[in-house]
Amino acid sequence: MEIKTPFTIAVSSFKGGTGKSALAINLATYLAKIGYNTALLDLDYGAPSLYSFFDLKHNGPTLNDVLIKHIPLENALINAKEHLKLDLLGNLWVGLSSPKNENTRVMIRRNQHEARDDAAMLFQWIDRIKSPPYNVDVIILDTAPGMNFLSVNAISAADISIVLLRLVNADLLSTREMIAGQHAKLTDKILLMVNQLPEDYANEEYGPKIKQLINTHITDKIESDVNYLGIIPQDPIFLALEVENMLEFLHDENAVRSIHITKNPEGSFSQAIESIAVHLNLGGYRGNT
Ligand SMILES: Nc1ncnc2c1ncn2[C@@H]1O[C@H](COP(=O)(O)OP(=O)(O)OP(=O)(O)O)[C@@H](O)[C@H]1O
Ligand SMILES: [Mg+2]
Repeated sequence: MEIKTPFTIAVSSFKGGTGKSALAINLATYLAKIGYNTALLDLDYGAPSLYSFFDLKHNGPTLNDVLIKHIPLENALINAKEHLKLDLLGNLWVGLSSPKNENTRVMIRRNQHEARDDAAMLFQWIDRIKSPPYNVDVIILDTAPGMNFLSVNAISAADISIVLLRLVNADLLSTREMIAGQHAKLTDKILLMVNQLPEDYANEEYGPKIKQLINTHITDKIESDVNYLGIIPQDPIFLALEVENMLEFLHDENAVRSIHITKNPEGSFSQAIESIAVHLNLGGYRGNT
């Protein structure tokens, strides 16, 4: 697969908790680290999570303010490289969604017309951040799980949809239904990954069996461009560091979560993120850094 920049990736899944936000922020950070100007938007307005990586105490302008109060998008884009003091070659622009009750409530009650307006806004935002001064090469959209207007809007704005699933919780058939009924109609390329596979199964014995399972039940049954990209193992160090992060709240409610790839670049999760970047085959292109 060869991809021309700039392009937009939506990260989605049928079920919740499949690792969308983790993949979105880590892939965005990795791409910025190796030199791409990258943007990351939290479009999971009903249950946002990317705010937890920032110490703004959720009081800074968010994408909710852009949609509802019509503040300029520029005011809601955080320069994460400066803000989090990240060692990146490219820039990383992040648009957060607010976890406050008043904001999540408004967003989950959007009617059809409002949802359509939100989609139009998203297309405008994408055009905006592809232009100067941002000149973004890659835009990553973190979405809400399932089939609803939030995910539909994100996927229809994306060139590629990365769909995650876990091999638990009857995810297989529901994921197939979602891709066939929704993604295949909205976007050109769909990449499928199994996340959080217990380490005992992430090996040469089970890898081919899992590939066969996914191909037989999903990719072979859908006519559009759906590719199975492989497994992201469950990374025990990732989970341990998340717990450590949470425990920091005991001492400081302003504690922020760390972006895993910056803490443990050699770990299995980080390596999987790198392999996704390789698969995206950006052809050695580097943006204006
Ligand atoms: N491969 C992995 N190895 C270890 N832990 C993982 C892995 N993938 C995800 N996790 C853990 O699972 C947590 C939940 O994932 P995340 O919040 O990204 O899921 P999500 O799909 O965005 O959920 P939601 O549907 O609620 O938005 C992550 O914060 C991380 O701690
Ligand atoms: Mg999420």
